Amino acid sequence: MTFAARAAQFFKSKPTSAPADGGRAAQLDAFRKVRRHTEELAAPLTPEDQVVQSMPDASPTKWHRAHTTWFFEQFLLLPHAPDYRVFDERFAFLFNSYYVAAGPRHERPKRGLVTRPGVAEVATYRAHVDQAVERLLTSCPADQLDDIVRIVDIGLSHEQQHQELVLTDILHAFSQNPTAPAYDAAWQAPAATRRDGTIDLPEGIHTIGHQGSGCCFDNERPAHRTLVGPVRIARALVTNEEWLAFMRDGGYRTPTLWLSDGWAQASAEGWEAPGYWREVDGAWHSLTLGGLRSVDPQAPVCHISYYEADAFARWRGRHLPSEAEWEVAAHTGELDDAFGKVWQWTRSAYSPYPGFRAAAGALGEYNGKFMVNQMVLRGSSFATPEGHARLTYRNFFYPPARWQFTGLRLADFPD
Ligand SMILES: [Fe+2]
Repeated sequence: MTFAARAAQFFKSKPTSAPADGGRAAQLDAFRKVRRHTEELAAPLTPEDQVVQSMPDASPTKWHRAHTTWFFEQFLLLPHAPDYRVFDERFAFLFNSYYVAAGPRHERPKRGLVTRPGVAEVATYRAHVDQAVERLLTSCPADQLDDIVRIVDIGLSHEQQHQELVLTDILHAFSQNPTAPAYDAAWQAPAATRRDGTIDLPEGIHTIGHQGSGCCFDNERPAHRTLVGPVRIARALVTNEEWLAFMRDGGYRTPTLWLSDGWAQASAEGWEAPGYWREVDGAWHSLTLGGLRSVDPQAPVCHISYYEADAFARWRGRHLPSEAEWEVAAHTGELDDAFGKVWQWTRSAYSPYPGFRAAAGALGEYNGKFMVNQMVLRGSSFATPEGHARLTYRNFFYPPARWQFTGLRLADFPD
């Protein structure tokens, strides 16, 4: 199978009604917009900020900028642009993340030790690849355009995922700095829409997963039928005010509320509040992208692990929705803040949908090989780029992870 055919498998086919130029202008525009946004996100950061790796799970900003560029070089330009000149042969080793089939790579926990290339050279690398991609999109033969556009789409979705990581990772780096720097002093926490009540889903068979035209990741397919309900899903996200009540009630000190692994993790790390919360003069504050701020009781709780979300739900006598319950409820349009506030933990393990097949080759490593030991998050956060997430989107992280913009909503079984 050709690379293009594998890529076509990876992303759902686009609608066939293309404009006269085959969609080249629109694709160029989308490419420039996404690539520019990465640079805009990095712009407030100094070169020193961009080199730091504060933990093995987080990556330096400079690495994100280079890795997303390598992705286009490796998966688009090398197979499809015969005249492409590789910017620097060493970069494939430095900036390949986890694609075993794409060759050997630098150890992830040591990304922060790579001081060369510097940020200026990474900017030149980005410009070099941008120019080559734009040339390819503009001048490739018409019969190759669809295949090239599909790979560009993958590259752009991939880069958008890294755009959110630029923010989550720099916030973690700043959390290690006693002066609590602000990424953007004007940043404001998202306010929650506060509507009480639930979406009641009677028992029924529903189709979940991606269907129809438009882009999606391979892990969203195949669409399939599943039994859902009866269940009630809260319209609203859990807020800091509710979380403070959990804390006051001894939530972090009551082992019966916790999964065994969660209690072990919370005990080992001394958790007594969500990630980045600090008590200052008797009041809870949280390190945000805007610096250290007093906790807003009305804002959705953020930076909680799956373990904490699960313990909170147990404390309330509820549970987390499954990803199918979440998706069916979100389809009704009645969930508040499903998108754009905080990712929502579900109780679903990240596993393949029935009939899932990872694409052959290196790009098949994108999602499929991570389908064990992680939990699914649904929705999106305030840091998720516009147009990136969708109803069927499946995010996934390890249960102890707290550095993402993660919160929860509750579910309940009807009496
Ligand atoms: Fe990546």
